[in-house]
Amino acid sequence: MNLLLDSFEFGVHTQIHYGIGKLNQLPEILKSNNYQHVLICTDPGIAGSGVLDRIEQILSNSDIQYTVFQEVQPDPTLEVIAKVKAVYEENQCDALIGIGGGSSIDTAKGASAAVANPGDLAQYEGKNKLPNRGPDIIAIPTTAGTGSEVTHATVLKDTKRQYKMGILSQHLHPKAAILDPQLLTTLPRGLAAITGMDALSHAVESYTSNQAQPITEALGLHAIRLIGKYLRPFVADRTNIEAASNMMLASTIAGAAFIWGRVAAVHALSHPLGGRYKIPHGLANSILLPVVMEFNVSSNLEKFKEIAILLGENVDGLSTREAALRSVEAVKQLVSDLNIPPTLGANKVQLSSEEAQIVAQEAFDSGIALANPKVTTVEDLKNMLVQAQ
Ligand SMILES: [Fe+2]
Repeated sequence: MNLLLDSFEFGVHTQIHYGIGKLNQLPEILKSNNYQHVLICTDPGIAGSGVLDRIEQILSNSDIQYTVFQEVQPDPTLEVIAKVKAVYEENQCDALIGIGGGSSIDTAKGASAAVANPGDLAQYEGKNKLPNRGPDIIAIPTTAGTGSEVTHATVLKDTKRQYKMGILSQHLHPKAAILDPQLLTTLPRGLAAITGMDALSHAVESYTSNQAQPITEALGLHAIRLIGKYLRPFVADRTNIEAASNMMLASTIAGAAFIWGRVAAVHALSHPLGGRYKIPHGLANSILLPVVMEFNVSSNLEKFKEIAILLGENVDGLSTREAALRSVEAVKQLVSDLNIPPTLGANKVQLSSEEAQIVAQEAFDSGIALANPKVTTVEDLKNMLVQAQ
């Protein structure tokens, strides 16, 4: 970006409440917004983990009424959103709480959009097409990855089309996010690994995208630094509260970075892979990130060199190009150290040439890859899938 010629915008519209044990302040946070009856959206995993019991206990000691919807699924569908909307209206709620991973928070966002906007949500796919702001959303992440607690995006699955679509709107920024690192301590190891790689993908893609600007670059760099230092110890022991705290912050910081800095080819491809082959988002990103970085590395050698250094590579004595390429090796090593199966084939997904063409075309048509630092054709995206096999 040329600061003498270009302009940019930046803002985070979510009040962030961070602290170990911060969940206990939920009633005060709800009261400060004058909510009377909240709908809690969560998934069976959170419901069974004791976290939901804790929230119910905290709320039962206050005068705030609540209703629970605990049937959130991974990759929330439009059908689930319609159900949540019905529960919301039936109980005359006035705000939504999304507690869990990205799916629970995105469900709360989708339901908020559905309450205030008529008809099929599919018509609002894309950026700034949602006419009305719905009820407020309070996001309480229990994974360190999605960043959805501060972003303006919800990713929903249209099962009829086997299609994961993104709705991006200023109306979807959560009103508040509660970041309580204690909530990460019961996260299963595999989920900690792939959600952490999702956060790294947000940080790297926004830092290197053609929409990057000074503030998102600063956020992206710090998120990469934190993830480089804390993701391995966090995955090794989720009760390591220092590692958990730093990963929770890294995830939110990377989320704030990609509101404006955008994501690119990794996310363009991981959405159709999730929609068609049910590959979890963080896993698809773990596989694609080194492939896409290798494709992009020549677009900005200095930036990729910086990523290599922040991920712990020793680049002394290397040329800038050699140092930049070390960033790709660093991510491959991280994926290996986290025991993430590193290819599509290792995850029992084999795409024929025709299938890869369809995924690549869908990735291209989503427009997400338009932020990629190197101009990306359907053929490029298809080649990335071949490399990811
Ligand atoms: Fe993501």
